[in-house]
Amino acid sequence: MPTKITVRGVNKVFPGARQPVQALQDAHLDIAANEFVTFVGASGCGKSTLLRMIGGLESPTSGEIVVNGQPIDGPGIDRAMVFQHYSLYPWLSVRENIRFCRQLKAHTRERTDADVEAAAGRADALVKLMGLGHAEKAYPNQLSGGMQQRVAIARALMSRPEILLMDEPFGALDAQTREVMHDLIRYVHRIEGSTIVFVTHDVEEAIYLGQRIVLMAPRPGRIDTIYDVPLPAERHQDMKLAPEFLRLKKEILARIRETSGMKTDLEQLEKLSAQNVINKVPA
Ligand SMILES: Nc1ncnc2c1ncn2[C@@H]1O[C@H](COP(=O)(O)OP(=O)(O)OP(=O)(O)O)[C@@H](O)[C@H]1O
Ligand SMILES: [Mg+2]
Repeated sequence: MPTKITVRGVNKVFPGARQPVQALQDAHLDIAANEFVTFVGASGCGKSTLLRMIGGLESPTSGEIVVNGQPIDGPGIDRAMVFQHYSLYPWLSVRENIRFCRQLKAHTRERTDADVEAAAGRADALVKLMGLGHAEKAYPNQLSGGMQQRVAIARALMSRPEILLMDEPFGALDAQTREVMHDLIRYVHRIEGSTIVFVTHDVEEAIYLGQRIVLMAPRPGRIDTIYDVPLPAERHQDMKLAPEFLRLKKEILARIRETSGMKTDLEQLEKLSAQNVINKVPA
């Protein structure tokens, strides 16, 4: 597969309250067309910053990001973003939410009847793809979190983006709904042929979804290790119990702990009791 996204020597420095924050240091990454890549790592390691730079919402302090051979310069219709918070329009129905951006575009002067029809057809197809048929007339406040996120994904797919950038999109959902969404997003990936970059805190989610995992580390934010996921293209939930899945999960969790200086709860407790802090806390 040809390269879709290239991150080349990217640095990002934010001003910061006291001193500049190196959110990302010398990041290099190639993502192939139709690849599904997940970013994991401790809080503050620059996952969202890198994703937002690929989306064109932030620009690198130095280095460049190339999409389809062209350095990017801001957001583009070839890239769509989905965040944890659904940000649907509460006054629009499911179907209207999905169509909304295309309607805006369709109101420009170049609009043709064919454009409007194509948009309606696309909206219908996405309503079906995301299993929203029975809810298309409902309003966001009548939907569960999982359903709202389906609408947000459908809306992002409306313009047929080649690249879908997702920042902890399922972070607010319960475990069962997340599992359903995992299979759904993998299905979307296959059917739409999109390239997906997906940020998560959840290592299991990163392995189940990704073909490769980019592990990032904080202070300074950087790419630490890239893992190939040793699972077949077709995934099913039972694979989470496979030895190769569990081995990779353990390895990644250990590396996150190592690179972030995080301690396990048990280590924290041992440290505190060694310092006699726990014994001093009044009962
Ligand atoms: N707009 C900003 N202004 C100043 N500092 C920022 C800004 N955005 C991010 N940062 C800093 O850059 C670093 C990386 O932040 P980023 O949000 O990319 O991390 P993250 O890996 O997505 O974290 P989390 O897992 O908590 O979402 C952090 O230290 C953060 O405080
Ligand atoms: Mg983030």
